[in-house]
Amino acid sequence: MQNKRKTSGQVEASASASASGTSAGSKGRDKPLVCGNWKMNHNHFEAIQTIQKLAYALNSDDYHHVEVCVHPPFTDLRSAQTVLQADNIPIALGAQDCHSADAGAFTGEVSAAMLAKLDVTYVIVGHSERRGLFGESDEVVNAKARSVLRHAMTPIVCVGETFDQRRAGEAHEVVSQQLAGSLDGLDEAAVGALVVAYEPVWAIGTGETATPSDAQDMCAHVRARISQGWGSAAAAGVRVLYGGSVKPVNAADLMEKSDIDGALVGGASLNAEEFARIVNHRLYAT
Ligand code: PGA
Repeated sequence: MQNKRKTSGQVEASASASASGTSAGSKGRDKPLVCGNWKMNHNHFEAIQTIQKLAYALNSDDYHHVEVCVHPPFTDLRSAQTVLQADNIPIALGAQDCHSADAGAFTGEVSAAMLAKLDVTYVIVGHSERRGLFGESDEVVNAKARSVLRHAMTPIVCVGETFDQRRAGEAHEVVSQQLAGSLDGLDEAAVGALVVAYEPVWAIGTGETATPSDAQDMCAHVRARISQGWGSAAAAGVRVLYGGSVKPVNAADLMEKSDIDGALVGGASLNAEEFARIVNHRLYAT
């Protein structure tokens, strides 16, 4: 697969995003971003092992072609940071969530300010499990995204429709509304520097994947909606990932699509060899 090249508009968008200080870790659309969301799996010993195995499976050419990030549970982050730094492994560290406040009486929560101190680059906000199981609204997701930006990290804002919504023909509208609410009030440069993950809820952890053309269609819709709401530079710069049962066998076909800039991988990221084969999707492209 050929990496997608930036147009001059995109170069301007990412330049202005860096100037606004909102683009920590943001490498732009010319490099696919492959993120492993471990969810509530792997203790900190297993995290160290998984990262070491992943580093063994990837080489400098792989990192040249793909930006790689792992999102372990909070309790693993310090150990993951230490092993990445000690072994000079060019894999970004990500978190799975954060609270919108910097500090305070919020028992059990972790702030973006704390994540920034652990050299976290990307923070997932609004994952469908957070929205569905923990009742997070677009307003909450918006506050979290703002907090991540305030601490110079990059939010990965998740959107996606349920099976019933898709069957009822509401998928595009649902995603439009989630974007409107989750990105409300952010300026063009901030939106151009962030990451949106389109994850149809019916494809998460089910083995059902959107077809590459359905995934492309919705990722293009995300970009068009962003262009409408936040301007063409935002649309040119924003990276749109697909997530939902991404596996070594389907990664290349998904990622060759013009509006898909990478993948958010759940189950298949727990195993280092399997995740490395997704990172290396270019080697398996047909
Ligand atoms: P999955 O999860 O790859 O296991 O479907 C994706 C996600 O929830 O981010």
